[in-house]
Amino acid sequence: MKPKVYITRAMSKDATDMIAQVCDVEVNIKDAPATRDELIENIRDKGGIICMLTDRIDKEVMDAAPMLKVISTMSVGFEHIDVEEATKRGIYIGNTPGVLTDATADLTFALILATARHIPQADRFVRQGEWKISWSPSLFLGKSLWGATLGIIGFGRIGRAVAKRAKGFNMNVLYNSRTRIPRDEEKRLGVRYATLDTLLKRSDFVTIHTPLTKDTYHIIDEGRLRLMKRDAILINTSRGATVDEASLARALKEGWIAGAGLDVFQKEPIQMDNPLIGLDNVVLLPHIGSATSETRRMMAHIAAKNLLLGIGGKKPLYCVNPEAKKGRSKSGIYTKPLSPSHHMPGL
Ligand code: NAP
Ligand code: GLV
Repeated sequence: MKPKVYITRAMSKDATDMIAQVCDVEVNIKDAPATRDELIENIRDKGGIICMLTDRIDKEVMDAAPMLKVISTMSVGFEHIDVEEATKRGIYIGNTPGVLTDATADLTFALILATARHIPQADRFVRQGEWKISWSPSLFLGKSLWGATLGIIGFGRIGRAVAKRAKGFNMNVLYNSRTRIPRDEEKRLGVRYATLDTLLKRSDFVTIHTPLTKDTYHIIDEGRLRLMKRDAILINTSRGATVDEASLARALKEGWIAGAGLDVFQKEPIQMDNPLIGLDNVVLLPHIGSATSETRRMMAHIAAKNLLLGIGGKKPLYCVNPEAKKGRSKSGIYTKPLSPSHHMPGL
């Protein structure tokens, strides 16, 4: 009997077909996440799931799925999954790091440029027929990138890719991470380490690239927003809850900082009564950091590969909780490893 898997949103067809060669696949084909009830109902008899960052995979979901062996998320972030609970049950968790680094770093830079040079406001100005004088010496004056200091909080894959882009724009780069990288690497990358508070005081642009954890929840709060320069811009493409959004809205309204560019929010989709909506000094995007066709296709392939490895009794290619191995003998019914031919070539 083929193992059964559930895919919570339609993803690239070739990745789905690859899974369907060896598994019975059920896909949520609605153009919306499965409801909580649908998720719980559909996972009951499944050995594996491909989920999205919009699906909360917690104890209740795992309780409903006694045969679950692998949770493969089509995202690098995995804060929507109860890792401890999965590990205890011997359920592997796979994610999709790396393949979305460049797309997300590009989008971060798009936000830096859009906020610094007022691109959305200027576009609206043209479309709304407000452009009456051919050229004006002070029309939409923005902030220069060259010579400015970019502060990067979270210096992992995406943070470093953003630093690389910043060097191409002749920016000075400060970074903060819990772990300082070796000095020769700092030199090679042209970046300097700073404590978080120093980074906030000195940077013209601050960009967040940490995962969402209990330590990074509201890492940018009122106190830290007040440390920033009054003409500084905050960019967030990590997770909404790394920033205290209510304090950010006040900071933007009352001029503690000059602007913000956000791809992520505490509650997604953003509600229309969110105070950020009414502010003109913030650029808002609907969580599209990794949204290029090529990137999403690669994410789907890795998610598929992680799922197939996990369901075949092996550790996913990108595994969040390798220690789940210890609990595995107790869980799941499908233990026969799948043949390597079921894996995507080149991955
Ligand atoms: P990564 O390679 O794991 O990098 C995260 C970095 O954050 C690590 O270098 C880590 O270093 C640092 N960090 C962790 N806790 C910290 C703290 N308390 N203070 C300062 N630094 C801390 O992850 P990534 O691939 O770059 O992705 C980062 C995040 O971006 C993901 O988790 C996801 O939430 C988000 N993301 C969003 C989109 C989007 O569509 N907007 C797309 C992709 C990713 P230390 O452990 O040494 O501190
Ligand atoms: C996107 O936000 C991801 O974590 O992949």
